[in-house]
Amino acid sequence: MRKKIIAGNWKMNKSLEDGLALASEVTNMASDEVSSEVTMIMCTPDIHLSAVSGIAKDATNVTVGAQNMSEHESGAYTGDLSAEMIISAGASFVIIGHSERREYHFETNQQLADRVKLAIAKGLTPIFCCGESLETREANEHVGFVNNQLKESLFDLSAEDMKKVVIAYEPIWAIGTGVTASSDQAQEMHLSIRNSLAGQFGQEVADEISILYGGSMKPANAQELLAQPDVDGGLIGGASLKARDFIDIAKSY
Ligand code: PGA
Repeated sequence: MRKKIIAGNWKMNKSLEDGLALASEVTNMASDEVSSEVTMIMCTPDIHLSAVSGIAKDATNVTVGAQNMSEHESGAYTGDLSAEMIISAGASFVIIGHSERREYHFETNQQLADRVKLAIAKGLTPIFCCGESLETREANEHVGFVNNQLKESLFDLSAEDMKKVVIAYEPIWAIGTGVTASSDQAQEMHLSIRNSLAGQFGQEVADEISILYGGSMKPANAQELLAQPDVDGGLIGGASLKARDFIDIAKSY
């Protein structure tokens, strides 16, 4: 059974104090309002991880994730964060390959493949991001582009390990722009991703993988997107910074 996942990506927002207030609000509201079938994840800035994990530790349906991770286990990598550090801060998920990291930090498919493998080996669940630019979509190359991202970063995994990955399809043109992919566009890509996973790992594995949609998801459009058969959840940026909106998205299944 694939999991219903609503993950918030806080990006570089919120002071520690404001982040803890948001985490408390989300955790309290989730226990009162959100079905226990939905896993909510707060992917916070690194320095918030430990304290936010403390707030969420008794929650049944809220957990914590990091926004990035090094492909190295430890050592002289100034400013980087290791899998063990993330785990020791109480987090269990990690976003890997967000388009902002790919664009501003030049992360490559090979580097992301190494990170996904290391995260799994250490016991973290990777949320692997893929998605095309507007230019690529307008050239009608989005399906091939995303398939190549999957192939170069995930297809070396064993089928057992592949089952441990969560995928987020995030068309770059929809991130932070207020423009959302239509539910048809999202379903088309999610199905294509699932078919591509089925081709490599078998249908049974593909059917177990949660594929999240990301890109201007908000309470007003969440229900229609989440109603699509291959959209299993969301990765939410802007709307995860307001507890009410984030909770309302998680109630939209
Ligand atoms: P957005 O961001 O919801 O603000 O568009 C999504 C993301 O980048 O994960």
